[in-house]
Amino acid sequence: MIQVIKQRHSVRTFEKKTISLDDEKVIQKIVQDGMQEAAPFGTPVKLYFLRNKDAHSPESKKVGMYGYVKHVPAYLTGSTENTKTGLLDFGYVFEKAILELVKRGFGTVWLSGDFDNEDLENFAREGHVVPVMAPVGYPGYKQSLKERFLRMKQEASDRKKHEDLFGFNDFSTPVDKSHPYYEVLELVRLAPSALNKQPWRVLVKDDDFHLYLKRTEKFPEQVADSEMINMGIAMRHIMIGLESLSHTGQILMDDAAPRPEGLEYVASIHVNS
Ligand SMILES: Cc1cc2nc3c(=O)[nH]c(=O)nc-3n(C[C@H](O)[C@H](O)[C@H](O)COP(=O)(O)O)c2cc1C
Repeated sequence: MIQVIKQRHSVRTFEKKTISLDDEKVIQKIVQDGMQEAAPFGTPVKLYFLRNKDAHSPESKKVGMYGYVKHVPAYLTGSTENTKTGLLDFGYVFEKAILELVKRGFGTVWLSGDFDNEDLENFAREGHVVPVMAPVGYPGYKQSLKERFLRMKQEASDRKKHEDLFGFNDFSTPVDKSHPYYEVLELVRLAPSALNKQPWRVLVKDDDFHLYLKRTEKFPEQVADSEMINMGIAMRHIMIGLESLSHTGQILMDDAAPRPEGLEYVASIHVNS
């Protein structure tokens, strides 16, 4: 999975090909496995595979808050409670499914927005939201011009530096490269995030990772808080990193975690060695 995290990038242009029945079975298995795993805060997150009826119509380009997707044969989507823990759980569960798709050669991208889709109406539980639809397909041979432009713009700023995101005991002390958790944090740095804002901030203190959210002022209003979903993605990447070190982690809310100014405390991961 570490390699998958390192290789993954958003794919917005797909081959003009429908998903084969064999591949649909593979995706359905990812969906089922994703729903069977207990989410960290116990939210019943639902996942759903949906073929795109109008894959080649101009309308299908308009899904998502920004960016353009082309020739989308299908979507992975899901629903959750519109609460802090519901969105953390959603990010955590959905990111695993995304990585499983990438591992098997599918192209995909997280898209958040307000989805008006009749197939989704009966799918979400009462009171739950559908915060994301991720196109799933065979990566297009060529990136569209618009996609290249979006990537160029993103890559210009691309990822923030390790020391701007993570701290050892406090945020003025960077985590040293020799620290056993340096590489675990690197997996957070590579994570996808809405508008590539990279709002995760993490303190390593003893055997704990304390996660904080640095909110972007005037973040576009959405059906659900995408910034909190990003934090669920970060939690997943840390857990994958710990697994690679043969550690397990316990995700919890820690009342004793430091509360640095200007950051919103989200959750902690306690490492059981
Ligand atoms: C919660 C979430 C919502 C996103 N929403 C959109 C979107 O609406 N449109 C889009 O083109 N990309 C969207 N993205 C993808 C990000 O733009 C992308 O992950 C980020 O720019 C980093 O690029 P990378 O995924 O290639 O590493 C979203 C990502 C996340 C995690």
